[in-house]
Amino acid sequence: MFSADIYQQRRARLQAADLSGLLLFPGNADAPMNYRDNIYPFVQDSSFRYFFGLNEPGLAGVIDADSGEVTLFGREPEVADVVWTGPQPSLAERAALAGVNRSRPYAELAAVLRAARDNGRTVHYLAPYRGEALIELGRLLALHPDELGAGVSAALTRAVVALREIKGAEEIAEMERALTVTRAMHLAAMREARPGVAERAVVGEMEGIVRGHDWQLAYPSIFSRRGEVLHNHHHDQLLQAGDLVVNDSGAASDSGYASDITRTLPVGGRFTPRQRELYDTVLAMQLAALDAIRPGVPYLDVHKLAARVMVERMTALGFFQGDADAIVDSGAYAIAFPHGLGHQIGLDVHDMEGLGEDLVGYGDEAERSPLFGLGYLRLAKPLKAGMAITVEPGIYFIPALIDAWQAEGRHSQYIRYETFRQYRDFGGIRIEDDVLVTEQGCRVLGAPIPKTAEEVEAAMAD
Ligand code: GLY
Ligand code: MN
Ligand code: MN
Repeated sequence: MFSADIYQQRRARLQAADLSGLLLFPGNADAPMNYRDNIYPFVQDSSFRYFFGLNEPGLAGVIDADSGEVTLFGREPEVADVVWTGPQPSLAERAALAGVNRSRPYAELAAVLRAARDNGRTVHYLAPYRGEALIELGRLLALHPDELGAGVSAALTRAVVALREIKGAEEIAEMERALTVTRAMHLAAMREARPGVAERAVVGEMEGIVRGHDWQLAYPSIFSRRGEVLHNHHHDQLLQAGDLVVNDSGAASDSGYASDITRTLPVGGRFTPRQRELYDTVLAMQLAALDAIRPGVPYLDVHKLAARVMVERMTALGFFQGDADAIVDSGAYAIAFPHGLGHQIGLDVHDMEGLGEDLVGYGDEAERSPLFGLGYLRLAKPLKAGMAITVEPGIYFIPALIDAWQAEGRHSQYIRYETFRQYRDFGGIRIEDDVLVTEQGCRVLGAPIPKTAEEVEAAMAD
């Protein structure tokens, strides 16, 4: 947790947004795995954590946007809590850590909200995304969970996004701390990914590094020789010489900040010439994107630039034919690059996506494309200095997609299906870094992780 003044400043900035009424930030509750007392690792709600810092279940923060009064609602620890889970600070001590000098029993929260609404005041809240939170919010506001969606505060959501999407120096430092552990995970995978080794053994090695810090993963690890499955969470195969393995894995620091890194490894330690030309293509896509990132540039344009770099190189390799711009604009390119170039990252790996992906990634300045592939782009709006984003181009050979498009003749004037068919067993390649948008351009966060083909091969030979 940061020092109390960070949270005070964040709340003061939120109050400077032109809101009136109560701003309600429910923290998360423990989530049962299979019965109440056997719980998933606790993950705090990120907006509560952003404004209040505290990382325990059962809390809620309320900011009176008119008077400036801030209250932390929670439960005083009882002897039974101490017996089962050890000594704990009082509620007032917890509140003080967040720079809050008023605390009230959680049991009073519903009445406080009711009194405010009875007085004609608005209770602003963000979109809940967990079932338990939905039910609890409904109880607090005396609304059926189905009615909550209509009451989500667009004004509060916009104000929160505007603050959370510009990272402070303290947040960037935490993301870089997360990246030190993620870097160790990726270096370990480069050492371990040899022919005959089980995917799950490498995953266990990487995740053990995270757990060894008593940290959590930022998201479920993707480590697969079937890297054409974009979010492949199976680790059940044996690595074979000549495979490409997509390793998309990252740690979240103890302060909750995420990292999200992908490297693609040649099992056996050397890229084949066929793998190498496409690996270098993905690298060229990423480097071109990094070069184009600067404040004011729509991320949609950066995505299209990366797609264009891919199309030009893959046309030379016999995968496409025709005008490169037309291949990008038609969406034909997505047969090989069917996902978006990246997303914001921070306390959530897809930062703030729970608040509404369109609101966070598109806002009023961009519109989501209906095209297959481009429609999956999570961030399209103009970039701002201080945003933290991922840059993650890829090339994939997805047999089901190739077959389906060829069967309907989709984009057959641009796509040379006979070439794609020769790569059905190729798998996938993705390269992903986390980047801070700066006034001048961007900075890749964290110490470098081997990325060029030569660097990856050297790390695997170590
Ligand atoms: N790790 C998931 C993603 O890259 O979006
Ligand atoms: Mn990733
Ligand atoms: Mn990502």
